[in-house]
Amino acid sequence: MKKEFLDLGQQPIANKFLYWEEVNGDTDTEEFFFDLKVVFDEETNLVSLKEFVKPELMFNEDYKYNTSLSVPMVEHFKKTAELMKELRNDYGYKTDNVLEIGSNDGPFVSNFENAVCVEPCDNFVEKTEELGYKTYNAFWTTELAENIVNEFGKMDLIYSANCICHIQDLDDCFQAVKNTLSEKGMFVFEDPSLLRMMERGSYDQIYDEHAHVFSVLALKKILARNDLQIFRVDDLSHIHGGSNRIYVRRMNINSNMFDASGSVFEAIRQEKEFGLDKFETYKVFANRVEKSKKDLVEKLNQYKKEGKKVASYGATSKSTTVFNYCDIGTDLIDLISDTTPDKIGLYAPGSHIPVKNRSEVNILDYDVLFLGAWNFKDTIANKEQEFIKKGGKFLTHVPQVMEFS
Ligand code: TYD
Repeated sequence: MKKEFLDLGQQPIANKFLYWEEVNGDTDTEEFFFDLKVVFDEETNLVSLKEFVKPELMFNEDYKYNTSLSVPMVEHFKKTAELMKELRNDYGYKTDNVLEIGSNDGPFVSNFENAVCVEPCDNFVEKTEELGYKTYNAFWTTELAENIVNEFGKMDLIYSANCICHIQDLDDCFQAVKNTLSEKGMFVFEDPSLLRMMERGSYDQIYDEHAHVFSVLALKKILARNDLQIFRVDDLSHIHGGSNRIYVRRMNINSNMFDASGSVFEAIRQEKEFGLDKFETYKVFANRVEKSKKDLVEKLNQYKKEGKKVASYGATSKSTTVFNYCDIGTDLIDLISDTTPDKIGLYAPGSHIPVKNRSEVNILDYDVLFLGAWNFKDTIANKEQEFIKKGGKFLTHVPQVMEFS
C-alpha cells in the first residue's frame, strides 16, 4: 500500500524557466501546476510522487540543463568513464557496445569510441549525433529496447546518470534493461540517494522530474522482480547533493561481478539504521520540512524588515520546489544569479523571480545570497570570496536554515 507523507503544494515544471511574455500574460497558455505529494510504498519501500507529470511536459526541446556547461559534472563523467574502463578486467565485461540512457549533450559517451544514445530532448539529440553517436530521440521503454537490440545487438555496458529516477514505470524500465544487457553485461546508474536527502533535509530533491527518490533497499526489490541484481554501490556524497552509483548484473549468472567490500550490504545497513523501511521515519522528515519552511520564510521576512538586499544563487530545479512550497517571490528575493546562457533573461517557474547573468549582477550590492545551488556550496563560496570579505552572508536551508560566510 502507498502511504502519503509529504505535501509540497502546487508546483510548476521545475526546470521550465519562462519567457517575459509568459510571465506578463501576453500568451494564451497558463502556467501548468500540479499537486506535489509524496508517497511511501510499504511493500517495496519505494518513495515516489503521488501524481506523475506527463513526461512530454518536462523532457522536450526546451529542456534547460546542458551538462557540458558544468565543469564539475564534465569532470565527474570523464572520471566515471575511466572507472568503467578500468573495471573491465575485474568484472569481465566489454565496452565494445555501450548504451547511455538519457545522454544529455554527451559528456559521458564522448569518452567512448562507440556508443548508442537514448535521449528524449530534441535539443540534445543533435549534439550527440554531431559527435558521431547514433541517438534515439525517444523515452527508454521495452519497445525502444527491442529496436536497439535489433539494430545494434545486446549491450555490454548500459549507463545512465540522473535519469532512471525520472522513469515512472520502473518495471518496464528494468525489463528493457534486462532485454538489452548481454549475458555478462553490466548496468550502472547514478541517482540522488534517499538516505542523503533524508539526512540532509534536502526536500528540494523532490520535484516533477524525480518520479522516485531511490533507496538501495527499494531498488534491490524492484530489480529482483525483473531478474536483475545489485552487486555494488558507490557512495557519491558530493554529486547532486548525495547520490548512489548502483552496479547491476543479470540474476543467477556465473560471473565475476561481485564486490568483496560488501558495499550493498553496508548501504542497506545504513538505510535500515536510519529507518528507511519504516513509515514513521517519513512522518518525522515531513515535520522537519514544515519547520524548514517556517524558518526560511521567517528569515527572509526579517531581512526585508531590516532593509537587506537578497538574491538567490543558482537557478536550479531544486529552488523551484523551495520557492513554490514556501511561497517566496520577488517580494522576498530580487533575482536569481546564474551562468547558464539558456536560463539568463528568463523567469523562475511559479515564483517568476528573474534570472540574471552572474556577470551582470553586482553581487557586492547584496547582503544575503540564498544558495539555490547548495550542492555546489564550496565551489560558489570559493568563487565569491569578495562578497564574503565585504561582510555578505550566504543563506541555505540544508541541513537546516542557516547563514554562513
Ligand atoms: P543543478 O545543480 O543542476 O541543480 P538542479 O538539478 O536542481 O537543476 O544546477 C546548478 C545551477 O547553478 C545551474 O543553473 C548553474 C548554476 N551555477 C551558477 O550559476 N554558478 C556556479 O558557480 C555554479 C556552481 C552553478
